[in-house]
Amino acid sequence: TVHERPDTFHDNDQKPVGHGRMLRKEDPRFLRGRGRYVDDVQLPGMLHLAILRAPVAHARILGIDTSAAEASPGVKAVVTGAMLAEQNLAWMPTLSNDVQAVLATDKVRFQGQEVAFVVADDRYAARDALELIDVEYDVLDPVVDARRALEPGAPLIRDDLEGKTNNHCFDWETGDEAATEAVFGRADVVVSQDIVYPRVHPAPMETCGAVADFDAVEGKLRLWSTTQAPHAHRTLYAIVAGIPEHKIQVISPDIGGGFGNKVPIYPGYVCAIVATIVTGKPVKWMEDRSENLVSTGFARDYIMRGEIAATLDGRILAIRTNVLADHGAFNGTAAPVKYPAGFFGVFTGSYDIEAAYCRMTAVYTNKAPGGVAYACSFRITEAVYLVERIVDCLADELGMDPAELRLKNFIRPEQFPYTTKTGWVYDSGNYEPTMRLAMDMAGYDALRREQEEKRARGELMGIGIAFFTEAVGAGPRKDMDILGLGMADGCELRVHPTGKAVVRLSVQSQGQGHETTFAQIVAEEIGIPPADIDVVHGDTDNTPFGLGTYGSRSTPVSGAAAALVARKVRDKARIIASGMLEVSVADLEWEKGAFLVKGDPGKTVTIQEIALRAHGAGDLPEGIEGGLESQICYNPSNLTYPHGAYICVVDVDPGTAQVKVRRFIAVDDCGTRINPMIIEGQVHGGLTDGVGMALMEMIAFDEDGNCLGASLMDYLIPTALEVPDWETGFTVTPSPHHPIGAKGVGESATVGSPPAIVNAVVDALKPFGVRHADMPLTPSRVWDAMRGNARPP
Ligand code: CDP
Repeated sequence: TVHERPDTFHDNDQKPVGHGRMLRKEDPRFLRGRGRYVDDVQLPGMLHLAILRAPVAHARILGIDTSAAEASPGVKAVVTGAMLAEQNLAWMPTLSNDVQAVLATDKVRFQGQEVAFVVADDRYAARDALELIDVEYDVLDPVVDARRALEPGAPLIRDDLEGKTNNHCFDWETGDEAATEAVFGRADVVVSQDIVYPRVHPAPMETCGAVADFDAVEGKLRLWSTTQAPHAHRTLYAIVAGIPEHKIQVISPDIGGGFGNKVPIYPGYVCAIVATIVTGKPVKWMEDRSENLVSTGFARDYIMRGEIAATLDGRILAIRTNVLADHGAFNGTAAPVKYPAGFFGVFTGSYDIEAAYCRMTAVYTNKAPGGVAYACSFRITEAVYLVERIVDCLADELGMDPAELRLKNFIRPEQFPYTTKTGWVYDSGNYEPTMRLAMDMAGYDALRREQEEKRARGELMGIGIAFFTEAVGAGPRKDMDILGLGMADGCELRVHPTGKAVVRLSVQSQGQGHETTFAQIVAEEIGIPPADIDVVHGDTDNTPFGLGTYGSRSTPVSGAAAALVARKVRDKARIIASGMLEVSVADLEWEKGAFLVKGDPGKTVTIQEIALRAHGAGDLPEGIEGGLESQICYNPSNLTYPHGAYICVVDVDPGTAQVKVRRFIAVDDCGTRINPMIIEGQVHGGLTDGVGMALMEMIAFDEDGNCLGASLMDYLIPTALEVPDWETGFTVTPSPHHPIGAKGVGESATVGSPPAIVNAVVDALKPFGVRHADMPLTPSRVWDAMRGNARPP
């Protein structure tokens, strides 16, 4: 169901970008099974690589005997950390200025860590040989619980770092501590709540992998890899491996979902590169499902204390939080350098408050590295969960309706651009209409009446609300970079003589439909139909430099680049048209696809005719070169701040504690909408992710550090059975600084849905005096909460 509220549209934004809900150009190949993924790459003479992983979480390596594996049939090479160390390749930088072992040399630091690899004629021979490698481990006590990582006497994990004597990773703070303290001191009501966002995993359908092919004659490395950031990866490979950057081609073909999992550089990619150089043959590495779940970038793992101060009549004054962040064995967080806690600073939410403060400590534990932005703009999911949970706790304390409390405290439309108490400048927003539309769609008052009647009968029905503001589109290069690379995006547009065009992007799609929406953006600006515009992406030899796709940055950054490059081409086309029509440039009017002479609409040239003239015979206006193409590097002036109002209705079975999500209403505002169908798809996927996190998903460990979520039998992800028919709606508040007013949307639903669902479950459990229960709200957790035994994960 799609609802819309036309009266919240702004002038000129009545409609989505031209061609609106057009079907996805990429789908014919996906639907026919003709997508070309990394594992589809077959090269002549290709060898296969398999990785031996640590069976324990923390152990010293006393010795590795590879002789039996080397003698195994079909084996071409067996490589250990010690061998890599001889080439100075045993360690690599992470995206957070830490280092991570490519293959363990001294110790293993998490279960599933890479210890050695085998290259063989086929995948089976490689895997069989792994079992013949004999590693002698001296098992050490692991640190599993982040709360104990800094205790005196805790086992030291990172003894590879010089002078390191404890498991401290970093400290970070934001906001004004003293001002916040003062506001808390004079508040009528203070509520505090411990809240855990457990470790979850992005679990993309396609696992990670690479095919590396080094051509010693050309001196060129070709790497097909599952990466969300081909250009940034190429630069890092050049730095680490010492291969000149122009001699490396990173190709990221069709990608089966990324969700942040494919941002980091994994040891497997580096091993494949080493293997092709050592063997002189192309080498393929594809991890299996368990390897993906156990060893690649996790998300969240924040242990938070939230505090909120308010007046008795429900005016929120301040929010304060203390966070313990579990970063695993190596800090593999992918976030702009200045933001070790990502964009967690937006924990003040959508509310106009007087003061805010956050203090965070991050620690190392014997768990897989990561801290990736799983369908989230760098820790915004954690921030939104914190604020939306704590606001509900306040509503409970005050005996106020949670919708009313939110409406009372929203930043008002006239306050935008709004600078938050932690220094974020929200570009635009109009929150109340979005909230009211969600409430209308839900039939909020009727739902509350239904709930009252059901409670009287002992039935457990809950209504949960979440309202979020996201910060997406990293980011302005004055303060955002990843390992020194500014977060701008290039774009190149070429119009061929026949008027067909190619647009080359620096971002890389993992299923979001960029081949369609970027064609739509360019089509809207230059009037060539989207079917005549090819979108090229995911190949560093054939696209301009840029930082890739994550944190919903494609539309805010690269989408802006696409619109602006098309405008540059249009400007040139205008000059050529003036020559063709023999009038001055000022006498021309643009009407999508053609220039007309003002006052003489019969005199016109189409963009296709201009393209032919640009490449054809005959003179061009003075100073104009032939051809019709341009390129740009776009540096955004700010992030974009989409918002949304979500309402969830759940029923909890009092006998089994099973939660059923009965209804879910999601109203999103992502500014100008390019393709409403694709947006709905993005929202549906994100909401489904939210059901998973709220009710099912957690990467748990036993006390020895064994990962308990190593397969999809143990790590549950949602299916069509667990989700309702989504009810989506939208409002449109354009971004004032984006050329077409668009904001990102890809992650909004993942960010906004977990608090709505948890708030609904807690609301259902109100008759039991429950104010909070931690995710995932499995039947046993809910059962415990009903019995007053809620415990943190
Ligand atoms: O960076 P990523 O592509 O993951 O996220 P996004 O920029 O939010 O875009 C996700 C998909 O939704 C893309 O195909 C966008 O073009 C589309 N979209 C849209 O149609 N209108 C918007 N205002 C935002 C995104």
